Order: sequence, then C-alpha cells, then structure tokens
Amino acid sequence: MLRIGSLQLNHWVVLAPMAGITNLPFRLMVKGQGAALVFTEMVSAKGLTLKQARTMGYLKTDPMERPLAAQIFGSEPLVMAKAAELIWDMGLDVLDINVGCPVKRVTKTGAGAALLASPEQLIRITREVRRAWPGPLTAKLRAGWKRPELVAPEIAKQLEEAGVDALTIHPRYAKDGLSGKSDWSIIRRVKASVSIPVIGNGDVFRPEDAIKMKETTGCDGVMIGRGAIGNPWIFRQIRDMGAGTKPIKPDLKERREFIVRHFQLLSKFTGQERAARMMRGLLFWYTKGLPHSGRFRGSIGRIKDIKSLHQAMDTYFAALEDQPQ
Ligand SMILES: Cc1cc2nc3c(=O)[nH]c(=O)nc-3n(C[C@H](O)[C@H](O)[C@H](O)COP(=O)(O)O)c2cc1C
Repeated sequence: MLRIGSLQLNHWVVLAPMAGITNLPFRLMVKGQGAALVFTEMVSAKGLTLKQARTMGYLKTDPMERPLAAQIFGSEPLVMAKAAELIWDMGLDVLDINVGCPVKRVTKTGAGAALLASPEQLIRITREVRRAWPGPLTAKLRAGWKRPELVAPEIAKQLEEAGVDALTIHPRYAKDGLSGKSDWSIIRRVKASVSIPVIGNGDVFRPEDAIKMKETTGCDGVMIGRGAIGNPWIFRQIRDMGAGTKPIKPDLKERREFIVRHFQLLSKFTGQERAARMMRGLLFWYTKGLPHSGRFRGSIGRIKDIKSLHQAMDTYFAALEDQPQ
C-alpha cells in the first residue's frame, strides 16, 4: 500500500496528471476502476491567485473521486504558497508541485521542468509551499533538463529535506518530451536516494508493466498516464494481478456502457456540444485495437450528441457482436 504523509491509500496504482485529459469526468471514470489516487491536470498557481474562472474550474471535484491530488505549476515561491493556501481552503487532499512540464509556455516562465535547472529556486518554492500546506505534499519530476545531466536523484534528496512527503519520477529528460522510452533504472536510483515513498511513471501500458516496474525498481507506487486513456480498466486489472487473480478484459457491453457514462458525465460537466468534441477524441482511444475500429472512426465525426453517439455505436457494436469471439 502507498502512504503519502498522513494519507493512507488503498492501493499503489495512481492516475497521472494530464492536461486536457484528466478533468473531473475522466477522473471519476478511472476512479471507478480502481485508481487509488487521481491527479488534476496542472493548474497555474498565478491563475489561481487571480481567481481566474477557467483555472478554478480545473479544481472542481466530487466526493466520489476523493482522495484528489491537485497539481500546481509556477516559479514564484510566494505565489505558489498562496495557491497552496487556496487549495487547502477548498479542502483538497494532496498537493503536487509540477517539476516536469517541458512545454515552452511553462518553462519560459521558470516553471515546470525549468526548475530542474534551478534547484535553488525549486527548494525555495517547496519550503514556502510546505509552510502554507499542512497536508500531504508531493512533487513530480523528470530525470533532468537535458541528457546526460541526470539531476533527479540529488533533487529528490533536497525535496525530501524541504518537506515533501512523496515523489513521482517520470524518467525522461525535459528536452526529450515523450519521445523514446523512459529509463526505469532512474526510478531505482531516485528510490535509493530518499527514504520517502517514490512513485514510478513512464510507459506503463499493460497491467504486467506496472507489476514489472514495481518489482524491478522497488518503487512504492506506479503512476499511469497515456495507458489509462481509453483503457481505464488497466487499474482494475493491475489490482487483480496483484491479488493473484487473472485480469479481466472488459466485454463489449461494458465497454459500450462505459463510453455512454463517460459522455453523460462530460455533458454534465461541460455541456453537450463540448462533450461531443471531447468524446470524439476519446473514442479513438476507446476503440483502439478493436476489430474494424478504422471503419468506426469514420462515423465518429458525426457524433454531436447522445443520440448520434448511440447511433454510431449501435452500428459498430452490432457488427462487432457478429464477429466470432
Ligand atoms: C496529454 C498529456 C498531458 C500531460 N499533462 C501533464 C500535466 O499537466 N502535468 C504533469 O505533471 N504531467 C503531464 N503529462 C505527463 C504525464 O503525467 C506522464 O508523466 C507521462 O505521460 C509519462 O507517463 P505515461 O507513459 O504513463 O503516459 C502529460 C502527458 C500527456 C500525454
């Protein structure tokens, strides 16, 4: 089991923060499949302190998804601390500092992965946030800014000293974006450098990958990002595997019901038109690897509301059910 400060989780597998993806409906769907902890997408500390409506919207929550970790990014210690106070007042469970976002819009302000190249500033931020946030505090970092400058093990030590309760390591360099393969040996090195729990992240696409990451690196938790898009069942399957039972794949009925439920939640959260737009993107993932998904994708563009979603799925799933299983 994974423990983050005072928070005892009921398992060690967690959902990664993903901008544009891990909104409240997505988190609720994944939570229902067994993720022990879910993260918001990264939220601008500055936007929060300015109470920008859009920024505040990222922190909307629901009792069903708790515990929830809110991830913030920023480069100014006092602004980050103020954001932490605001999030504490909202009653959220875990606060996570983004030390990994490689996107220029973020790094050019000195935030995200740029902090890997300015460890003193990162530690100043962490100390201020620690003062402002009494609850479980985490940070999510990459291996370093650019290879071969591996700074994560040393930075992890400093973060621990500054009061962070657990760390996530995504072992790629900022300059590498999401290309190549994550280097899990770095997870092991970070784990060896600290005594707080370490969550490993990177390229877990099958339940076996999660078990393997835990076994080969000694990490305390496993975080899944892209592997959960269109495949929320991975969390349940990992729990099954860990418990020694055979992981069960969702059948067509479950898959279909899941898609509809996701659309309904999205509609409630953002309105039907926006939900349809988001769902068109997600359906690509939900049908990945299924027979004739290419043909189905042709009809995805016509989905505008729940009725057209049902129509598209009626045609596709009826054809699938006719397939020999
Ligand atoms: C679309 C997308 C958005 C992401 N947004 C964030 C983010 O807001 N904060 C963050 O720390 N990482 C973000 N990441 C990185 C993931 O959390 C994760 O570290 C990375 O995808 C590697 O894990 P994976 O191989 O399981 O996907 C994002 C990744 C993707 C694909």
